[in-house]
Amino acid sequence: MAQYARSPAVAVIRLRNPPVNTLSFAVLQALEDGLEKADADPSVKAVMICGENGKFSAGADIRGFSSPNRPVKSLAALVSLIESSKKPVVAAIEGIALGGGLEVALGCHYRVAHVKARMGLPEVTLGLLPGAEGTQRLPRLIGVPAALDMITTGKHIPATEALKLGLVDEVVEENTVEAAIRLANKVIGQPLGPRRLSLKPVPKLPDMEAFLSQARVRVKKQAQGCLAPELCFQAVRAATQMPFADGVRRERELFMVLLSSGQARALQYAFLAERAAQKWTTPGGASWSSATPQPVRSAAVIGLGTMGRGIVTSLVKANIPVVALEQDLEYLNTGRKAVMLLLEREAMKMEVGAQTLDFHNPARLQFTVDFDSLRDVDLVIEAVFENMALKKEIFHKLSRICKPGALLCTNTSALNIDEIASATSRPQQVIGTHFFSPAHVMRLLEIIYGRHTSPTAIATAVQLAKALKKVGVVVGNCFGFVGNRMMFPYVQQAVFLLEEGSRPEAVDRVLEDFGFKIGPFRMSDLAGLDVGWRSRQGQGLTGPSVPAGTPARQRQGQRYSPLPDLLCESGRFGQKTGKGWYQYEKAGGRTATPDPWLHSLLAQYRDTHGIEPRFIDQEEILERCLFSLINEGFAILAEGIASGPEHLDVIYINGYGWPKHKGGPMFYASTVGLPRVLAKLHKYSEAHPDVPGLQPSAFLKKLAAVGNPPIKEWMSYLSQQSSRL
Ligand code: 3HC
Ligand code: NAI
Repeated sequence: MAQYARSPAVAVIRLRNPPVNTLSFAVLQALEDGLEKADADPSVKAVMICGENGKFSAGADIRGFSSPNRPVKSLAALVSLIESSKKPVVAAIEGIALGGGLEVALGCHYRVAHVKARMGLPEVTLGLLPGAEGTQRLPRLIGVPAALDMITTGKHIPATEALKLGLVDEVVEENTVEAAIRLANKVIGQPLGPRRLSLKPVPKLPDMEAFLSQARVRVKKQAQGCLAPELCFQAVRAATQMPFADGVRRERELFMVLLSSGQARALQYAFLAERAAQKWTTPGGASWSSATPQPVRSAAVIGLGTMGRGIVTSLVKANIPVVALEQDLEYLNTGRKAVMLLLEREAMKMEVGAQTLDFHNPARLQFTVDFDSLRDVDLVIEAVFENMALKKEIFHKLSRICKPGALLCTNTSALNIDEIASATSRPQQVIGTHFFSPAHVMRLLEIIYGRHTSPTAIATAVQLAKALKKVGVVVGNCFGFVGNRMMFPYVQQAVFLLEEGSRPEAVDRVLEDFGFKIGPFRMSDLAGLDVGWRSRQGQGLTGPSVPAGTPARQRQGQRYSPLPDLLCESGRFGQKTGKGWYQYEKAGGRTATPDPWLHSLLAQYRDTHGIEPRFIDQEEILERCLFSLINEGFAILAEGIASGPEHLDVIYINGYGWPKHKGGPMFYASTVGLPRVLAKLHKYSEAHPDVPGLQPSAFLKKLAAVGNPPIKEWMSYLSQQSSRL
C-alpha cells in the first residue's frame, strides 16, 4: 500500500498499488500513517513521496467512484495534510502523475520529475473535475491560462514542458528518487510558507475577465455536449474570484454535480470498456492470455487509394518500414504524392524534439508496382477495391510470393474473410484489419478472425494496433462485421424516415443533437453514396440483375428503399460530386446545404408510390435509428461475433463518432432501460412488419424479461441460454 523507509534524515514513503499505484482507501491510509510517523520522529527532517515500479500514481481508483464520498474527501484532506507538514515534502515523479496522483504532488512543497514522466489532470475525460483541490492549486502554481488548458482538456504533458510551466522544480535523466532525496536534504530548515500553494495568490493577468470569457467560449465549443469541461472551467474561474477555502468548497460542489451526472458514469464505463476490449477471446477458445504475437519488423500495403494512403502513413509514423504497391505507374505516382503530402503534414504536427519521420529513405518507405518486392515483409495489408474476385486474385498471389510466416491482412469493410482466405494456401494467416477513414487519424482497428485464423495471427494484429496507437477490437466474421453491420439498419431507418415524410436535414439534426459528430446523411455524403450502391449491385439488390417485375420498394419480401439508388443514378455521389443528400459549394466541397431538388424528388417519389407524408417527431427519428442499431448489437452478441457489449461500444465510440459521454450504444440501451427499448421496438415493428431490423432480437427479449440487468452481467444470461439448449 505504502512503504515507509529512512534515508537517513529523509523519510521515504513509497506508494504501492500495482499496476499504476491508484489511490485506494488503503493507500491513502498508509500514506497518512507514513506522514504521521515522519512527523513524530525528531530525527526525520524531511519527507520524500514516490511510487512503486517507476510510476508515481494514476490517481483515484476509477472503479471506486460508485462509492464516491470517502476516497475523494480523504484524498483532498490528505493533500492538505501533506501541504501543512512542518517538514519539507518532496515528490519524486517517475512514469506518471495523473489526476489525484498529481494533486498529491501539488500538495508537496517540491516536485522532481524524471525526463520521461508525464503529468496531467485527466478527470475531465472521465466526466469529472480534479476533486482534491487541484483546480485551486494548479492555477496558483502555473497561472490561469496553462492550468485551464490542462484541466479542461485533460492532456498529459511531458516533464520538459512541466518544467517550463513551473509545475516541477527539477527534471532529471537518472535516478529521480535519489535526486528528490538530495533536494529534500538541501531544503531542510528553509521556510515552507512560500512553497504552500494554498497560500499563494493566483497570478494576475492584464485582463482576467476578457481572458475568461474568451476561454469559456472555446471550452464550450470543444465540449460537444459534454458537461465536465464547462464545470472544470467554472472551478478554475472560482480560483480567480475567491479565497482558497471558498474555491475548494466550490470545487467540491461542482465535483458532486458531475459525479452524480450520467455522463461521468458513461465516460468511466468507456475508459474501462476500452481496457476490457483488449482482453479478447474467441468461441474456439483462443485468448489474449495464451496467444503470442509474432514481431512485425516490416509491412506492405497494396492499393494507395483513400484507405491505403492513411494506412501507409500510420505504419511510417509507428516506425515500421513499408513497401507500398499499386496496380500501375500512374496510380503509383498519384498514391506516392498523396502519401508524401500526408507524411509531410504529420511531420509538421510532431512535437519538437520527438523522433523525426524518416520517410524519404527508401529503406523505410518504398513505392513499387512489383509484387516480388513483398517477398520478405512480415505483414501485408490489402486495400484494393471492394471486389471479391480482385481480392481473391491478390491473396492467391500473396500466398505464392510472401515468405511462409507473413501475415496476410485485408481491409475489406464487409466481405467474407473465409472466402478471401480460401484463395491462399495459408488461411490460418489471413485476417481482417478494418481501418476507418482517415486511417492515419481514426483510432479504431476492427480485427476480424476467420474460421481458420490462428491465435498468433490475432495476437499479431492486436499488437499492430497498439504499435499504431489504435484501439484494436477483435470480432468474428459476418457481413459488415460489427461496426458496419450495426450501421446498416440505422442508415436504413434514416432513409425509410425520408420516404415517410422527413428530410435529410431533420434526421441529421436529431442525431447530431444526440451527440453524433455528423448525422447519417452527412456521413453518407462524406463516405460517397457510390460505395453502398456498388455493394447493393453486388448483392443483386439494384441494377440489371434485379428480376423483372420486382416491386420497387421490396426485396425478398422485405421493405427496400430505392431512394439512394435513384440519387446515384443521377450522378449524385455525395461530397465528391458536389451533390448527394445535400448540395455542396463545388465537387469536393464540405459545406452541406439543404437541396430543393432533393425535396421535390422526395415529394414526387411519395406521389409515385402513394405514400401519404406525415410529420415525424424527434423521438421517433431517434428511437427508430438508434434502437434498430442497438437491436442488431444484441443479435451480434447472441451469435458470438463479439465477446461482450463493451467491444461494440468501443467500436462505436472510436470508429463511428458515437458521443463518448453517452458510453456507446449498448451502454446507452442500459441507461434507457432494456424493457423500454424492447417495448419501443415492438411498437415500431408492429407498424412496419416488413422491416426485420425492427423485430426485437431474442437476446434483448431474454434480458428484458429479467428486468434491466447490469451491462456487465449480460453475457452470463447468454451462456445460461446456450447451456440449456
Ligand atoms: N483507476 C483504476 N484503474 C486504473 C486507473 C485508475 N485511475 N488507471 C489505470 N487503471 C488500470 C486499467 O484499468 C488497467 O487495468 P486492467 O489491467 O485490469 O485492464 C491497468 O490499470 C493498466 O492500465 P492501462 O492498460 O491503461 O495501461 P497503460 O500503461 O496503457 O496506461 C495510464 C496507464 C496512463 C495510467 C492509463 O491507464 C490512464 O490514463 N489511466 C487513467 C488515469 C486517470 O484518468 N486518472 C484520474 C483518475 S480520477 C481522479 O484522480 C479523481 C481525483 O481528482 C479526485
Ligand atoms: P479506393 O478506390 O480509394 O482505392 C483502391 C486502390 O486500390 C486504388 O488506388 C487502385 O488503383 C488500387 N488497386 C486496385 N487494384 C489493384 C491491384 N491489383 N494491385 C494494386 N493496387 C490495386 O478504395 P478505398 O476507399 O481506399 O477502399 C479500399 C478498401 O478499403 C476496400 O476494400 C474498402 O471497402 C475498404 N474500406 C474503405 C473505407 C472508406 O471509407 N473508403 C473504410 C474502410 C474500409
